[in-house]
Amino acid sequence: KPIVLSGCQPSGQLTIGNYMGALKQWVSMQDDHECLYMLVDLHAITVRQEPEALREACLDGLALYLACGIDPEKSTLFVQSHVPEHAQLAWILNCYTQMGELNRMTQFKDKSAKNVTNINAGLFTYPALMAADILLYQANQVPVGDDQKQHLELARDVATRMNNIYGDMFAIPEPFIPKFGARIMSLQEPAKKMSKSDDNPKNFIGLLEDPKKLTKKIKSAVTDSDEQARIYFNTEEKPGVSNLLTLLSLATGRSIDELVPEYEDKMYGHLKGDVAEAVVSLLEPVQTRFKTLREDRAYLDEVMKKGAEKASARAAVTLDKVYNSLGFLPRP
Ligand code: TYM
Repeated sequence: KPIVLSGCQPSGQLTIGNYMGALKQWVSMQDDHECLYMLVDLHAITVRQEPEALREACLDGLALYLACGIDPEKSTLFVQSHVPEHAQLAWILNCYTQMGELNRMTQFKDKSAKNVTNINAGLFTYPALMAADILLYQANQVPVGDDQKQHLELARDVATRMNNIYGDMFAIPEPFIPKFGARIMSLQEPAKKMSKSDDNPKNFIGLLEDPKKLTKKIKSAVTDSDEQARIYFNTEEKPGVSNLLTLLSLATGRSIDELVPEYEDKMYGHLKGDVAEAVVSLLEPVQTRFKTLREDRAYLDEVMKKGAEKASARAAVTLDKVYNSLGFLPRP
């Protein structure tokens, strides 16, 4: 079975963007792949986090993974900081990644432009840690949204570079980016990506949000002001409407081509109402399962413990191989 690895940052509540771009694929890959899914808390601290909020977000994230349909009997579910090999391999990869390569990362440019008071070294070398996450498990496929494509290319470049020097060290990972839903846009500013760390909560739909509140958010989403308020799919001419159509299509499982004709004589309000309804019916069962899971700390602990043990055992094999190849003396 091909090996699959992916993760989300516990830096706030997961959004419908994280679900459509990543989690939905994670769930569907479980049967015919060997899957490892984690919460990347080491990545999250590249931006300052409240310790208590980080702990809570990690537990929420884990319960959400489960509530969305990740099955711990099939997949390995773990917290990144529980497996020290991630940080260990990240250091090594730092030494095989060029400053110039990291400088080209658009996410670093965006994040450092937004947060000028804390442009730390970790934010800069973030992609090397992400490469370590992937290469440690010899992952073949990495299901992510569109925004992670560049990070994945870097992971492939570093892996190839090290393979060329040391022989077969790492499997070369392929990105697995859905054709549709890989970039859910912000509700109020549909030219930018929906993000859980957005300062304006009206811009995103949290997976745990109260149905009434999220209905209100969707109903006040920005639609495009052109002369005739027509509803059709064109991400350049109609970014807001196209984003709503995308959400509707993904939440109902119906294609855009099938949906658009139904709105021929309808108004934006109709579309928004239908999107809200579809998103609520998608999320309600998830939220119900989440509630039960989140209260069962003993169960969550057991999942994390088993996951970390399984992940660690695999990670140790790769790290050993790397240490040996680089010429580190084995600890007697
Ligand atoms: P993060 O936490 O920002 O996002 C988690 C996943 O959700 C996807 N995503 C989106 N997809 C569609 N539309 C959106 N608006 C949207 N926003 C986010 C992301 O592409 C991602 O797949 N660096 C990663 C976490 C990470 C990782 C890894 C991923 C660390 N190590 C190893 C894969 C493999 C990140 O910050 O994701």
